[in-house]
Amino acid sequence: MAPLDMKPNELESYWVPFTPNRSFKKKPRLFSGAKDMHYLTPDGRKVLDASAGLFCVNAGHGRDRITKAIQQMAGTLDFAPPFQYAHPKVFELSSKLALMAPGDLDYTLFASSGSEAVDTAMKVALAYHKARGEGARTRFIGRERGYHGVGFGGISVGGMVNNRKAFGNMLTGVDHLPTTYNKAKQAFTKGEPEWGIETLDELTRMIGLHDASTIAAVLVEPVAGSTGCIPPPKGYLKKLREITEKHGILLIFDEVITGFGRLGYAFAAERYGVVPDMITFAKGITNGAVPMSGVMVRKGVYETHMSGPEYIVELFHGYTYSGHPLAAAAGLATLEVYKEEGLFERAKAMEPMFADAMMSLKGLPNVADIRPIGMMCGIDLDPIAGKPGLRGYNAIESMYHEHDLYVRVTGDTLIVSPPLVVTEAQVAEITEKIGTVIKAVA
Ligand SMILES: Cc1ncc(COP(=O)(O)O)c(C=O)c1O
Repeated sequence: MAPLDMKPNELESYWVPFTPNRSFKKKPRLFSGAKDMHYLTPDGRKVLDASAGLFCVNAGHGRDRITKAIQQMAGTLDFAPPFQYAHPKVFELSSKLALMAPGDLDYTLFASSGSEAVDTAMKVALAYHKARGEGARTRFIGRERGYHGVGFGGISVGGMVNNRKAFGNMLTGVDHLPTTYNKAKQAFTKGEPEWGIETLDELTRMIGLHDASTIAAVLVEPVAGSTGCIPPPKGYLKKLREITEKHGILLIFDEVITGFGRLGYAFAAERYGVVPDMITFAKGITNGAVPMSGVMVRKGVYETHMSGPEYIVELFHGYTYSGHPLAAAAGLATLEVYKEEGLFERAKAMEPMFADAMMSLKGLPNVADIRPIGMMCGIDLDPIAGKPGLRGYNAIESMYHEHDLYVRVTGDTLIVSPPLVVTEAQVAEITEKIGTVIKAVA
């Protein structure tokens, strides 16, 4: 198309990610502004944000303190090379994270996306074992229905079929634990279900099959988020820690969603009283305002790498935007907002009323399960016969065009996870609007 023929606001060239492009472009859904609990549409409507953007805007939209920190940093230091150099704010941020993290998870490698954080953690695991003379430990164990982003590392250990099936063999030497979800045994449970710890027997079987000396790490989300919010069964994560520790296998918690207050704590690891060897984080670290992610590693993992001549790079890994000044400034301001407003404690205090509100949707047409935990909740709708995903897509359209509501939908599952500044009245409003949408797509 010649440039002069270009229509303003041409939609065609943008390949919209994780989106059915042809349907979307016939009737697009756009957000052009955001403040507090709402998005603004180009036609001036206020849309209630019941999923914190994509599980990241934990302090609500357009927070002045974060905006100002970004603006100020952009005018002071636009970029600093992250290899062989650094800038003050990134040290400050990693020190703060070390204080917040459980146990001795005291060292942080930064990246920009959750997918990069996962790749980073997997590479650190391999390099750690190699440095200890256990280079045969190369196998990773993920879990069915796990989501760890879309890099080759993440889709290999991840277990959501549509994210994997078009992309070949991915990484080899990866096994998957069974999902902990069992509808017959767990449907409509608030919080951690009773049933499911037995699914860890499979880990013992895998260790028997491959031998622990070939296994580098187990990587799981403490609460499986993107697949539709699946809380861990009671005792599951503690037992997982026990088994991995006993066999010298690293345990990586992917806390890209669960980090920074979603479950009422800085990290889910704290809620479950478990110290993994690494925690990946992203999203909430900057309230979604600037891309940033990272991996926190335990002291022993870091120190294992600190050998050899001091002038030689210890880990050949990093990204151009690792610890970017704008992201570091946004991260520091975000952590201050979380702390000053007590947002993690607020999430913890609101959990019971949020769970009750979500459970009140039980009995509406096609509602197959509701799984609230912390300030997030999966709501499964029965699929339309022969057309999985269509009811979910209809819900997306109905919410945006008719009910001024935004909820993340995956397949036929709604994933509610409002900003942690949500009020009780807004939880009620979200619940009522979701109820209306569920009836509209029945
Ligand atoms: C647990 C988990 N890991 C990794 C990712 C990937 O993050 P990103 O989309 O920033 O690459 C996500 C994104 O939702 C996630 O939920």
